[in-house]
Amino acid sequence: MTTNPLSTISPEGGVDGGARPGSYYGNPIPYLPLDNYPGKIIALEGTDGVGRSTQTRLLKEWLEVQGYGVVETGWTRSELMQPTIELAKASNTLNKLTFQLLYATDFADRLEKEIIPALKAGFVVLSDRYIYTAMARAGVRGVDKTWIRNLYGFAIVPHLVFYLRIDEKTLIRRVLQSRGMDYWESGMDMKLGDDIYESFRAYQRSLLKEYASMADEYNFRVLDARRKIEVIQDELRRQVGAFLAEGDSERAEAAPAVTPI
Ligand SMILES: Nc1ncnc2c1ncn2[C@@H]1O[C@H](COP(=O)(O)OP(=O)(O)OP(=O)(O)O)[C@@H](O)[C@H]1O
Ligand SMILES: [Mg+2]
Repeated sequence: MTTNPLSTISPEGGVDGGARPGSYYGNPIPYLPLDNYPGKIIALEGTDGVGRSTQTRLLKEWLEVQGYGVVETGWTRSELMQPTIELAKASNTLNKLTFQLLYATDFADRLEKEIIPALKAGFVVLSDRYIYTAMARAGVRGVDKTWIRNLYGFAIVPHLVFYLRIDEKTLIRRVLQSRGMDYWESGMDMKLGDDIYESFRAYQRSLLKEYASMADEYNFRVLDARRKIEVIQDELRRQVGAFLAEGDSERAEAAPAVTPI
């Protein structure tokens, strides 16, 4: 009999797909309660080189023109952890669990110093990658699913998660045309082979499977990333625009009526 690894996760401890947007997935950060903050968090997910940063930048520009305050955050960009993570990557001496802990520490630091303050102040937070990338990378390296999901229990459930879905062939073409393949996004640490091209292909194939396996549970809004940049962006703007407009009109309805003097 096969056991479902999800069934062993305590619902209030780890990353549970059914949690409410804007709340913690599991165990909260005790000194940082989330009190229905007015801001929204929108995550853009997808594998290496798929076009996340391009879409995030265009979406940010557009949202600002619409009058929203926008804060952008990205994976391994915390002031506290970025140098350590770069060093660990350069020396390639850490084991897979230690790496996950560095990623999680980076995320916790950004959550506390950037994301929560921005949500509190009513900003739209655009996150270029989110915990699902960490979970996918951990998954292909054989890290225990329950462990990784419990580790990220302190993450906030995004209001929207967009997943830029691509196939292996299109991805390889895109990466070769733009900036080439690097050691980490080719999974060379996993010793899949000496050839970086073959390693990239095998590693990215496994990663794409991991992302796909999370899509339903975490309510990914799937965008076909094989299309042109502008076409993807149009769809993204339509969906984000509709979501934010709904929140704006609910707030307007809830506001007390002003009696004319
Ligand atoms: N839809 C698209 N069609 C063709 N090329 C694209 C598309 N989207 C992005 N690109 C190009 O692919 C390259 C990688 O894009 P981008 O930096 O946005 O990806 P990323 O997902 O942020 O990558 P990374 O994983 O390195 O952060 C860039 O040269 C970009 O112009
Ligand atoms: Mg990028």
